[in-house]
Amino acid sequence: MQTSVKVWPRKLGKINEMIYGHFTEHLGRCIYDGIYNEKSPKSDSRGFRKDIVEAIKRIKCPILRWPGGNFVSAYHWEDGIGPLEKRPQLPNYIWGGVESNRFGTDEFIQYCREIDTEPYLAVSLGTATLDEAISWLEYCNLDTPTKYSRMRKENGHPEPYGVKYWGIGNEVYGPWQVGHCSAAEYAEKLRQYTQFMKGVDRSIKVIAVGADDPNWDLTVLKHAGHLIDYISIHEYHGSDDYLGTVASVYYCEQRLRLLEALIKHLRLDHVKISFDEWNVWYKISAEKEGMDKGIVLLEEPYALKDGLFAAGIFVVMHRMADTVQMANLAQMVNALGMIKTKGDEMVLTPIYHAFDLFVNHTGRTRLNMAVDCDTYDINTRTFVEGRNSFKLNGVPYVDGSATYDEEKQVLSVALINYYQREEEVRLDLSGIEVKKRAVLNVLTGSAPDEMNDFDNPDRIRVQKKVLDNCSTEMFLKLDPMSANVIEFSLE
Ligand code: AHR
Repeated sequence: MQTSVKVWPRKLGKINEMIYGHFTEHLGRCIYDGIYNEKSPKSDSRGFRKDIVEAIKRIKCPILRWPGGNFVSAYHWEDGIGPLEKRPQLPNYIWGGVESNRFGTDEFIQYCREIDTEPYLAVSLGTATLDEAISWLEYCNLDTPTKYSRMRKENGHPEPYGVKYWGIGNEVYGPWQVGHCSAAEYAEKLRQYTQFMKGVDRSIKVIAVGADDPNWDLTVLKHAGHLIDYISIHEYHGSDDYLGTVASVYYCEQRLRLLEALIKHLRLDHVKISFDEWNVWYKISAEKEGMDKGIVLLEEPYALKDGLFAAGIFVVMHRMADTVQMANLAQMVNALGMIKTKGDEMVLTPIYHAFDLFVNHTGRTRLNMAVDCDTYDINTRTFVEGRNSFKLNGVPYVDGSATYDEEKQVLSVALINYYQREEEVRLDLSGIEVKKRAVLNVLTGSAPDEMNDFDNPDRIRVQKKVLDNCSTEMFLKLDPMSANVIEFSLE
């Protein structure tokens, strides 16, 4: 079948830029020897790796989640503030190794200011208490002459930080989690934490733990849905075969749509989805260096196929823009990281470049678009425990979204060609007057497993091509395994 794409000029609403967010956890080399390294000549006087800061600024990180993940369940925020020499060295109880607490709340906020992003803090429901969550909120956000607000000022930070986004716990539905509990127990804790925290600072937004389990999600939403602002969902996939990995984008879409349906069923329109952990995770790194020392590193080597997975997730989030209003790639550096470091060197993976493609070349207004193409059925396995195989029917070989940048007056047509061969697409833009010359931005490579490494850091990145003779009906040849964004200026 001829693959065809039709774009209508009708605006369908806004895409929230917070879908392009990130996550940093005290896991392996994400923070220490990752974004924070006081000894590197590449770091500034605060220990922030400048090359990483610059790379993150280029993809305009809108929101950054911290300090976990699972790590948060045994985190006590007061260990991470005050003079460095007084901060306790503790075991990293969750991921192994030593937690020096050199990077704590004040450093995190400074980091967010440096990269111009909103901070998102997750509170512990494991070994910490409601008191600690409240005092953390006071430390961050209040300007009162009270204990923790004064403590922040004494630590050299007179102005409140105004942290808006607060997650209540992390994955407490899972038996791997300290603080594991039933849906009903969590729903009641969530109610208490949210009521109390919003009582202290009514401007905050609360993110609840969703489980990608309709029973859990319904219980939580029914009990506390009227109080919360977001419900989260976490998805990690990765299969041995190329199509299995990229098809899992559509498994994620199914799960997001199920959660959306529950929210709609309960008429909780104010509750949005925070896709606050998502990535490819093959679990191959479990065998890697670090495990012998009892430290979990999770340094997955990401390749072209993973960049296409990320591009596919962005297209899904564009389609679901009314409900999916925040997302955080898990994670930013080294551990499941889209950026890798080795000593003072840095490599940007294809996942990073998928962010570049979508953040910098698509708009924030969604347009109506339809893709007509061949599809496939697949029965595949991903590592995810408990449901490590899935069957999907009708997975598209080509997918995309159309967006508009109101400021630049640019129409962006994003098209992913998952085929391992070139694909011709008929693009119908009737009703939209475009200039003859357009720019094609393409992310591709020669094989699904091709990657950037320290010897060849630029093998895979976004490349630009000029397209001449564009018109309202045109034929485009998409490279095999490519994510493309065509930027059309309007007449
Ligand atoms: O991102 C790695 C881990 O995956 C996080 O700590 C946890 O929330 C999830 O299970």
